[in-house]
Amino acid sequence: MKKILITGGAGYIGSHTAVELINGGFEPIILDDLSNSEEKVLGRLEEIVGKKLIFYKGDCNDPAILDQIGKEHELAGVIHFAAYKAVGESTALPLKYYKNNIGSLLVLLEFMQKQEIKDIVFSSSCTVYGQPDHLPVTESTPRKEAESPYGNTKKVCEDILVDFVKSKQGIRVISLRYFNPVGAHPSGKIGELPLGTPSNLVPFVTQTAAGIREKLTVFGDDYDTPDGSCVRDFIHVMDLADAHVKALSFLESKEDDYYEVFNVGSGNGNTVLEVIETFEKVNGLKLNYQIGPRRPGDVVKIWADTKKINQVLGWSPQNSLADSMRDSWNWQKSL
Ligand SMILES: NC(=O)c1ccc[n+]([C@@H]2O[C@H](COP(=O)([O-])OP(=O)(O)OC[C@H]3O[C@@H](n4cnc5c(N)ncnc54)[C@H](O)[C@@H]3O)[C@@H](O)[C@H]2O)c1
Repeated sequence: MKKILITGGAGYIGSHTAVELINGGFEPIILDDLSNSEEKVLGRLEEIVGKKLIFYKGDCNDPAILDQIGKEHELAGVIHFAAYKAVGESTALPLKYYKNNIGSLLVLLEFMQKQEIKDIVFSSSCTVYGQPDHLPVTESTPRKEAESPYGNTKKVCEDILVDFVKSKQGIRVISLRYFNPVGAHPSGKIGELPLGTPSNLVPFVTQTAAGIREKLTVFGDDYDTPDGSCVRDFIHVMDLADAHVKALSFLESKEDDYYEVFNVGSGNGNTVLEVIETFEKVNGLKLNYQIGPRRPGDVVKIWADTKKINQVLGWSPQNSLADSMRDSWNWQKSL
């Protein structure tokens, strides 16, 4: 089995990708400093896949831990999830974000160069599009000036990868621009585990339903959208995980010095109020929510054009928004 290093593999998307990698015939090697995840995720992952997993607790900015992994395993590729992702915090602590998100990519690329590892899949984000002028967004929709230091780290990392490919080191890169990952593994054993108050909608929804939060506030219902609330493109995390496996397999067939970027979304826009309604309907619950004022800096509406990933990688989502809401609630209940 080909070994794939997953940085940030104990996190939300990384842990689900570890499962899909094993299903796809790869062996994940997980590196995580547990700065935004918990070690017990590993045990839960092992219950799902029915075997022991290889895990290193360490910082991706530390060349020594990467060297150790490189000595102990022959790696066929890398998926780089490790990053900080809280948009609000990044505005207050920009250096923390630049240092970790950009620094870890640089250290990783030097490691790959030294070890002659060709393939890397990078976690980018639809945040690079800002509020686009035309919808849906394709991969050639111009990137806008980032709205936060976090968003800027994704733009800069994409640019670093493009420049590195241009330098003809033989590397092959896919940047996946995720839209809004939601849902959890259908077993309910792993899912999104926000530390502290969630900054994403769905963990806030499930925590409110569980009584951990008193009330959910919808930020604005007077936008130019079907029901006035913001529109996002929600993608089930298992579908997102599958996109990584497809991306890695595709890279193996490509020539050296290859770079490509793909949107990963459902291709549909759903409003925040539709998400709440779907959650209530599929789980037979009533959610305590109120409409609040608009939140400064929120993108009003965005959803993906997914033709490119459909056609080139042969990927399309298998789960609906209702599946995501059912699996998210299932996961919350297991907590
Ligand atoms: N979840 C989203 O909404 C979303 C959307 C677009 C892009 N992304 C990107 O996808 C990636 C994964 O996101 P996620 O939602 O799984 O986040 P997450 O916080 O759950 O997972 C990231 C993991 O990386 C680890 N980590 C952070 N810095 C590290 C370092 N220097 N060394 C080792 N481990 C480190 C954390 O402990 C965590 O387990 C991130 O790069 C994020 O920016 C996420």
